[in-house]
Amino acid sequence: MSVWDYSGKRAVIVGCYSGMGEAAARELVRLGAEVHGFDVRPSPVDLASFTTVDLRSPASIDAAVKTLDGDIDVLFNCAGLPGGTFSPADVMKVNFSGMRYWTEQWLPRIRKGGAIASISSTAGFGYLQRMATVLELLATPDFDAASAWVEAHPDIVTQGYSFSKEAISVWTMLMGTRTIKQGVRINCICPGPTQTPMMGDFEKAASAKVVDVFVQPINRRSTPVEQAYPLIFLNSDAASFVNGHVLNVDGGFVGGVLTGQIDVRESIAKAMTG
Ligand SMILES: NC(=O)c1ccc[n+]([C@@H]2O[C@H](COP(=O)([O-])OP(=O)(O)OC[C@H]3O[C@@H](n4cnc5c(N)ncnc54)[C@H](O)[C@@H]3O)[C@@H](O)[C@H]2O)c1
Repeated sequence: MSVWDYSGKRAVIVGCYSGMGEAAARELVRLGAEVHGFDVRPSPVDLASFTTVDLRSPASIDAAVKTLDGDIDVLFNCAGLPGGTFSPADVMKVNFSGMRYWTEQWLPRIRKGGAIASISSTAGFGYLQRMATVLELLATPDFDAASAWVEAHPDIVTQGYSFSKEAISVWTMLMGTRTIKQGVRINCICPGPTQTPMMGDFEKAASAKVVDVFVQPINRRSTPVEQAYPLIFLNSDAASFVNGHVLNVDGGFVGGVLTGQIDVRESIAKAMTG
């Protein structure tokens, strides 16, 4: 069997109604995986099964996880909410605390050699500067404790989106040392601006010109499937030594920022006045 092969693999994917998750589900089916989809809205992809789940609710997660019997090979966490349109509490629940709880429910059922891949964002690229604060949130033992932490720290959480993405990236690194003890890898991607239904919310919150500050230096937005491919790679056997990794899939943006070639503040100021 080729290391790229997904035939015969049992995959669970949450967030397969639209965008990157829908693209990933379609590609996984094409690659021969047995794909079980979960979302608040029914997926348009022809899947082995589909179950409704709301990541804002542990009870909904418990009920959804129970609908599928047996073990799985790979878990794809593709659900998310944008900031601004939804409350910070809901954004944090779907993007981080619900996703963490959901993953914990599947973890005992992921076979040795399996893997988990989630979607963070370049919007969370400040996680290195805020490591201690993010680790405080990650130290919360469960969903309710995370919600209480979020409620107690509105100044840090703000609209929820960037902070939730910082949390996913750091949680991925933290969990890499733990899940690997049962032979399961965990990684995430940080996409740059991608043309999905969520893009409309980003443009409403920040304007298309400000969003496009983040497409430097490639100077175009990603398509959903350009994010699905690296996500699928991370959960494949081809990535068997990749663990606890935060993979930028951003056309070179973060590289440009870290080497001082892209000045984000200056670019945003220019986009807002130009
Ligand atoms: N589009 C971008 O530019 C961009 C950039 C970086 C990261 N991301 C992240 O990529 C991921 C996928 O987003 P997308 O851009 O494909 O947008 P999208 O809106 O098309 O996809 C989000 C998916 O999450 C599902 N979802 C929303 N609320 C849910 C809930 N309560 N429970 C279960 N599922 C729920 C939606 O139904 C949808 O299928 C998100 O985590 C998003 O934050 C997006």
